[in-house]
Order: sequence, then structure tokens, then C-alpha cells
Amino acid sequence: MQSTESLFENLRKDFPILKRTVRDNKRLVYLDNASTTQKPNQVIDAITDYYQNHNANIHRAVYALAEESTEAYEATRDKIANFINIKNRQEIIFVRGTTEAINLVAYSWGRPHIKEGDIIVTTEYEHHSNIVPWQLLTQEKGAKLEYIRMDDDGELILDDLDKHLATGKVKLVTFSLMSNVLGTITNAEKIIEKCKAAGVLTLIDGAQAVPHMTVDIEKLGCDFFAFSGHKMLAPTGIGVLWAKKSVLETMVPFHGGGDMIREVHKYEATWNDLPYKFEAGTPNIADVIGFGAAIDYLVKIGMDNIREHEIELTKYAIEKLSAVKGLHIYGTKDISKRGGVISFNFADVHPHDVAQIVDGEGIAVRSGHHCAQVLMERLNVAATSRASFYIYNTKQDIDILVNALNIVAKVFKL
Ligand code: ALA
Repeated sequence: MQSTESLFENLRKDFPILKRTVRDNKRLVYLDNASTTQKPNQVIDAITDYYQNHNANIHRAVYALAEESTEAYEATRDKIANFINIKNRQEIIFVRGTTEAINLVAYSWGRPHIKEGDIIVTTEYEHHSNIVPWQLLTQEKGAKLEYIRMDDDGELILDDLDKHLATGKVKLVTFSLMSNVLGTITNAEKIIEKCKAAGVLTLIDGAQAVPHMTVDIEKLGCDFFAFSGHKMLAPTGIGVLWAKKSVLETMVPFHGGGDMIREVHKYEATWNDLPYKFEAGTPNIADVIGFGAAIDYLVKIGMDNIREHEIELTKYAIEKLSAVKGLHIYGTKDISKRGGVISFNFADVHPHDVAQIVDGEGIAVRSGHHCAQVLMERLNVAATSRASFYIYNTKQDIDILVNALNIVAKVFKL
């Protein structure tokens, strides 16, 4: 049995991109995993194998390639069902990513269910993809969008939720399981318990959480759950919307076209069974198959091991970064309440300058508003720099980051 540390060190060899150097032969230190993750050979090979040996459209023809292609595509649905603990595979809908999943709910559930005066509740630390679709819906319907505020430690103020629920007008509470800026892990159980007691539906944006920890949807008890493949080793352009069958059955189609219908006549049509009713057109077949390979890879490592590894890295990083002159870290220091995402700023230094200087040392961090301008307003900043970790990151990566940030402190005479 290899130790957990050597397990994570060894898996770096599976990621071809980590072998390359950048900026004058520097080791590539990839710390933008909240944005997207790198892909192991196992995922790249699964996609190549599909195009070299099996490529055909799915659900339509009876020839050998079409059968193989359909089987491989549907096998990923089963892997996802096991991965997030879903009993009914019909409840898993393939979409382009979390953004499309939330827009699907806003359209297909929101249009028939939301009316004037209703309230949808979101939070101050949401990604734009969990704010803008609700703005569009509530504006169209004459409904209201309300917020659960965040305290100075980056945790949600759940009293706000109680106040909103007490109006009796809330129809949906939607929140991310982990903030993409602060790494805060939301107390989902508490929110869902309160919403259930009030008969209100819940939607979880799991984009930042599912890649990094065990997520058990049955245990959570929410009504909608969305996540993306590309943040968990899979290709871009593929993600999942899960919803309870009883809820999906009350929703109108999102896109009309092939595969989502049962019968089409000149002036009307009827719909296919779930989940196909919500999967119109030729889907992203190769990337769904790549998603399956990514899940196999993560399952082999073990999601609890991944969480442990990231807790270790985050603890180490917070300790080292706190010693850098002039650097301020946002969010809670309680590691049990945060994932491997660290946003920081130097007093007056623009985050883009920080990102540019560390890029010179081979380090990829994101700087900007992180698609979370409501949160930026709450923090009273225009932008932050953000380092975010994944399975292939090491303490050496963090040491290199800290050295580079010390250069920033020196350049700006902090
Ligand atoms: N949602 C991605 C991020 O936080 C793009 O960077």
C-alpha cells in the first residue's frame, strides 16, 4: 500500500500537461483548478478511442457502431448515478455544464411555476450563473429575487433565510455548495431542512464541491443539483442536471428537436421519456464518454482521500501565505468549513499585476471578479487573486507560489 502522499505525487505522471514548462523553462504550477482542471491520459485516451473506433450517433440506429456508442454514452449516466448516489438514472440529464443546468431549471421549471409576487432566494456568494438566470426569470414574471447575506468570515447569515421563508412567498432557494471565490462550504443540510419545513424547493450548484469531496444527493435531500465535468478532470462542454423525477415531470421542455420527442405532427408534438425529454439534438457524445473515464479515475483515488489531500494543502497554504508581507486572505480560516480555494489581495496592488508577476514564475492563478461581482461588492473590492488546488498539486507548488508572492511584495515595496 502506498502512502496517500506518494499516491498524489505519483498521479502527476498521468497528466501530460504537467510535464511541460512555461516562461523560460519554469515548472508549470497550475493553481486555477476552480476555473478548470487538467486532463489525465485516461480521459484523453477514452476520447481518442471513441473517435478512432466507435464514432456514431446514439439512440437512433441499430448498426454495431451506433450500439457501441449508445452503450458507452449511457454507461457514464450509470457511473454518475453511483458517484453522487442517485437511485433513478432517468433523473440524470446531460447538459453543457452548470450554467446550462441552472438556465434549464430557470426556464423549464421557472416558466410554469413562477408567478407575480413569488420570491426566489439566492446568496451573496454565488457565481453569476446562479444569479443572472434568476434575474431574467423574476424580471419576466414580476417576481422578486432576494439574497441570503454573508458575514465577514464568508459564511451565510441563515437568519436571512428565515426572514424570507416567513413571507410564505418563496418558491425556490438556490445556493452553491462551495463558493468559487472563498471556498466556503455551505451548510446545505441546515438550509434544506429549513426549506423542507416551509415546503420550498432547493437547488444546489455543486460545480466547486463535487470534484473535491464525497457528495451524496440522496442524503442531502435537495430538489435540483447541477455540476460540470471540466472541473473534475473531464472535458469542457459536459455537465449534469439532476432533479427528482416528480419535479422533472412538472417541467416544460427546454430545447425542442430530435430525440426529445415521442411523436411530431404538423401542429403538435409529444415528449420522450425522461431524461431524453431534456436532451434535444445530438449530444456531446465523446465528452460524455471522457466524463465516464474521469469518474473512474476519481473513484479509484477515493473522494475522501482527495478531500484529505486538499485539506492538507489548504492548511499549509494558509499558514505560508499568512506570512507574506501585506497579503490578506478572504474567508474563514476554519479549514473544516472551506475547500481548496484561496482568494487574496495585497493592499493597493491590482490582482492582474499579481497574476502577471507570478505567471513570470510559471504559476497560473486567476485574477479578476471570478464571475462573482455581487460578492466583490460585498467584499468592497473590484477583484482578487485566487489560487485553487486539485489532486496533482503539491506542497512544492505552494512553496513556489509563496516565493513568487514575496517577489510581488518586494516589487511593490510592501
Ligand atoms: N467558474 C469558474 C471560476 O470560478 C470559471 O473560475
